[in-house]
Amino acid sequence: MKGIIYNVFEAFCLERCGADTYELILDDCGLADHVFIGPASYDDGLLRTLAGAAGPRLGMKEGDLHRALGRFAFSHLAARMGAFVAPFRDPKAFLMTVDSIVHLEVQKLLPDARPPRFQIEDLGHDHLVMLYESPRQMYDFAEGLLEGVAAHFGRSVSIERTLVNLATGPGCRFELRFGADPWS
Ligand code: HEM
Repeated sequence: MKGIIYNVFEAFCLERCGADTYELILDDCGLADHVFIGPASYDDGLLRTLAGAAGPRLGMKEGDLHRALGRFAFSHLAARMGAFVAPFRDPKAFLMTVDSIVHLEVQKLLPDARPPRFQIEDLGHDHLVMLYESPRQMYDFAEGLLEGVAAHFGRSVSIERTLVNLATGPGCRFELRFGADPWS
């Protein structure tokens, strides 16, 4: 996984518990004083290890931590790569570009990035299905990102999540219904 995701993890920990506790989390993983470089690549399992160490230190269960990290990740990514988000006024229109534009462009910028794939089904007004495919199976993180997108656009969202078998292996179906736009 790219270092940018580890940078998100660091920023999340600094916000939640400060630098001293973040250092303790690194220590717990045998990574004292480690600095993650955004464009570098790191072992996928390392994020799981770091999150496993952060859970008890932050008083969070693993699934809750991954979801909160996903919500935080979206605001972090949107702040740094706002050009992907700025053209949109609603979360559904933006999400329909995540696979075909955002992650595609990410792969051009960072050729060894392996972002997940999403198949999209447009089910009508404020209603969308996203089929998530990734060998990393980061379902909680993905759900948090989706919540982060809704929050970014000031919308509520209900997310129904179902585990599915896809041609490429296990995946997850997210069915999203956005609440009414308070400004329209
Ligand atoms: C500005 C918007 C976004 C940017 C710039 C972005 C970029 C990235 C990058 C760089 C990675 C790391 C890939 C790797 O290391 O191989 C990643 C992973 C990921 N992205 Fe995005 N992303 C964005 C929005 C989203 C959204 C809205 C979703 C929706 C769920 C999403 C889902 C994921 C997931 C679940 C991963 C974790 C890796 C995996 O599941 O295999 N991303 N993204």
